[in-house]
Amino acid sequence: VTARDGWTERTDVQTVWVLRPQEDAIQVLTAICPHLGCSVQWKAARGAFACPCHDSEFAPDGARRHGPARRGMDPLPVRITHGEVQVRWVEFVAGAAERRTTDGSPVDGQGTA
Ligand code: FES
Repeated sequence: VTARDGWTERTDVQTVWVLRPQEDAIQVLTAICPHLGCSVQWKAARGAFACPCHDSEFAPDGARRHGPARRGMDPLPVRITHGEVQVRWVEFVAGAAERRTTDGSPVDGQGTA
């Protein structure tokens, strides 16, 4: 993720989860927990994504199962161009039940290509 302003350019590395809900589709979820921002991990033994900080758990499609997170994992805009998966990084407001981006951009059309 590269961010620019009038004086600087900064590159950050972010973690995402790339899922294949169907053979001809992919879905991308941010690994940032929607509760307070820890890194969500896949737990194969539980068949779920889980957050190590406060034990929120999410289904394989990112839907909330239980824990203090008030919504499911956040989907990111994705497209496939010439066989390459391209993901647009978006930051979401932590702790809220409804999904909102930190910059107020719309969240429609995100998550699946
Ligand atoms: S930060 Fe993930 S459950 Fe609290």
